[in-house]
Amino acid sequence: MRVFVAGASGAIGTRLVPQLIERGHEVIGTFNSSPEKGDLLRSLGAEAIPLDLLDAAAVRKAVLDAKPEAIVQEATALAGGGFSRKLDRTFSQTNPLRTAGTDALLAAGRQAGVRRIVAQSFAPYRYAREGGMVKTEEDPLDPATPKGTEKTFAAMDYLDKVVTDAGGIVLRYGGFYGSANDQLVRPVRKRLFPVIGNGEGFMSFVHLQDAASATVLALEHGEAGIYNIVDDEPAPLRDWLPVLASALGAKPPRHMPTWLARIVAGTDGVRMATQTRGASNAKAKRELGWTLRYPTWRQGFIATYAPARADPVQQRR
Ligand SMILES: NC(=O)c1ccc[n+]([C@@H]2O[C@H](COP(=O)([O-])OP(=O)(O)OC[C@H]3O[C@@H](n4cnc5c(N)ncnc54)[C@H](OP(=O)(O)O)[C@@H]3O)[C@@H](O)[C@H]2O)c1
Repeated sequence: MRVFVAGASGAIGTRLVPQLIERGHEVIGTFNSSPEKGDLLRSLGAEAIPLDLLDAAAVRKAVLDAKPEAIVQEATALAGGGFSRKLDRTFSQTNPLRTAGTDALLAAGRQAGVRRIVAQSFAPYRYAREGGMVKTEEDPLDPATPKGTEKTFAAMDYLDKVVTDAGGIVLRYGGFYGSANDQLVRPVRKRLFPVIGNGEGFMSFVHLQDAASATVLALEHGEAGIYNIVDDEPAPLRDWLPVLASALGAKPPRHMPTWLARIVAGTDGVRMATQTRGASNAKAKRELGWTLRYPTWRQGFIATYAPARADPVQQRR
């Protein structure tokens, strides 16, 4: 298949491109920030084109010129920025990519006669905080979005809806890890990420290589709809955080009572640490035939971070 990957130069895109090429697909990958990203994509075997997804005319031209059979939307703008207490601040550049950027890709795809669309979404923190701790794609999303996160969750909801309405596939990925500079590495090494309260809030992770392999399968034979792309072991904060700290060679995480965490991490931080639900990958395994190289973060954290521990440059970060 000729596959147009928007946001091919990012964390997931750079794992996805080689897997697509390995499977015999042709890849047209987009980058946004610098010509070096184009060189990187070419070195991975893709045709590389610069593209700002917020320029709808440029998106239309790029897609029509590329004549793809499928489009994959993996664009976010999270590199370089630290995480703010307010998610809407952290995601301020990403949200328009998920709304206007996705609209532009869908419109261009329609015009170019593209029938297969796969788009990046997110599973953690989104399912309703009631009932069981592990949720399927059928379960309701949380209707009560905390202040300062409304735009971020609305952008994900928007993407989920327009892509499925268009007959496409939405991949609600777990929290990505699999690279020495993953977002959690620095705060956990510096013991800035505590277990809050009872640490009962669930998280679902996925290794970047596994996220990429699920994306290839979805593209090749997924049915329209939503898939949680997460590993086999959704787990409470109090379980996974000490394992991550140990894999990084960091001291064990601190513990913080909820009243103090509300001041330091805000209401969202407390909610994420104590109430959020994990996601089930049963549908993706059943319908896509997905098998994971790292079925749980227990193996994946060690495989990812133990080699980096031996590297004194990584240790100083
Ligand atoms: N599910 C998750 O947990 C999740 C999801 C996404 C990201 N993350 C994490 O966030 C961190 C940063 O992610 P990342 O490395 O993928 O970088 P990123 O800055 O989020 O970029 C992702 C992709 O989107 C492209 N992009 C950015 N702005 C664009 C625009 N206006 N138009 C078109 N494309 C645009 C980037 O191009 P350039 O490379 O040229 O900038 C890149 O190809 C990583 O640690 C990653 O694991 C986690």
